[in-house]
Amino acid sequence: MKIISVVGARPNFMKIAPFIRAIGRHNRSHPDSVNHILVHTGQHYDDRMSKQFFEDLNIPAADINLGVGSGSHAEQVGNTMIAFEKVLQAEHPDWVVVVGDVNATLACSVTAKKEGVRVCHIEAGLRSRDMAMPEEINRLVTDRLSDLLLTPDRISIKNLEQEGAGKNRIRFAGNIMIDTLEENREKAAILSPGDIIKRNILNADETRRYAVPEKFALMTMHRPSNVDQKEVLEPIVNFLCKEVAGDMTLYWPIHPRAKKQLEIFGLWDRVTSTPNIVLLHPLGYHDMLRMNMDATIMLTDSGGLQEECTVLGTPCLTLRWNTERPVTLRKHGGASVLVGNNVEKIRKEYLDTLQSERKPVRPELWDGKTADRCLKAILDRAREES
Ligand code: UD1
Repeated sequence: MKIISVVGARPNFMKIAPFIRAIGRHNRSHPDSVNHILVHTGQHYDDRMSKQFFEDLNIPAADINLGVGSGSHAEQVGNTMIAFEKVLQAEHPDWVVVVGDVNATLACSVTAKKEGVRVCHIEAGLRSRDMAMPEEINRLVTDRLSDLLLTPDRISIKNLEQEGAGKNRIRFAGNIMIDTLEENREKAAILSPGDIIKRNILNADETRRYAVPEKFALMTMHRPSNVDQKEVLEPIVNFLCKEVAGDMTLYWPIHPRAKKQLEIFGLWDRVTSTPNIVLLHPLGYHDMLRMNMDATIMLTDSGGLQEECTVLGTPCLTLRWNTERPVTLRKHGGASVLVGNNVEKIRKEYLDTLQSERKPVRPELWDGKTADRCLKAILDRAREES
């Protein structure tokens, strides 16, 4: 069987790494039964957004890089489709495996389906019901087209069934990102937080001390809904500079989109001149995991971090009004609470959350064995059809 799997942007890498390893394990007991080709669309291309994750997670170099790069959504999706169609016509795979909800997920599932190739979506069925989110559009289209829908939780199964997906297309596989977390937990735990800061600090200063205090906040923010409008971004920045940084050190690994927007809106100097805010380059996988293990509080708009905080127990403020990952919410037993991007709401939940304790939880099938179940689901389906 020939499988092409696709990655495009940072959150895809931790989802594909365990799948590739599952193929390796399978091929050791069934020599050469799965021929795997890894395609990188090239949406994320900076070393710190891409190459670093291939190294950290031992992902073999992509067999094919489509070199799509930055651009508008239509440019990214269109250029990916044009390039990926050629790959499919040259390689004739039996299955295309896509993960997550980025532009690569959408572009490659549409292209594969039009070429008559079966599509498997890992992380199917997540729904924020927010059509202003590019990722929600990507999820809806990908799931509508996929032959095999592998879900991370039971709520996702319900979502898919409500949309009319037949039971035979859906399998409950668990959360593949947690395979990566479990595989890398020990390696992260032995890292020194001080060294992490020293290696990743944006404005290195020889005289500075890098020791990480016992109490600190960790923050990431990149969603267009938070960073693309000054009226939204400025009050959040003021809250961070005056209130969070007044209480404790705030470490902020900064996404290229957020950095660009802070500069455009003239907010960059305010952030960099606040002594208790430490800006970092985007962190590698182990560095982020290590910092998350010790953080007093996480502020983020990333879906992946919401999930990691749930398993690690880090109290998390999710800077969004909705989430496609309800199992991570405190009201469902998780570690996170939705605070949107209104400062009053953020402040209230921030103060409440500072009182809460670390409480790791493990939703059903977030057990580190999801990748094997994903591969088995594809092989079972192929067997049923032969
Ligand atoms: C993308 C995903 C989002 C995911 C996020 C994680 C989609 C629709 N969005 O958003 O779901 O949560 O990745 O990071 O696919 N840039 C660089 N270097 C890079 C990549 C991007 O400087 O390696 C800059 C580009 O100038 C670009 C901006 O960052 O304008 C945003 O990148 P883009 O790929 O458009 O989307 P993300 O916001 O990263």
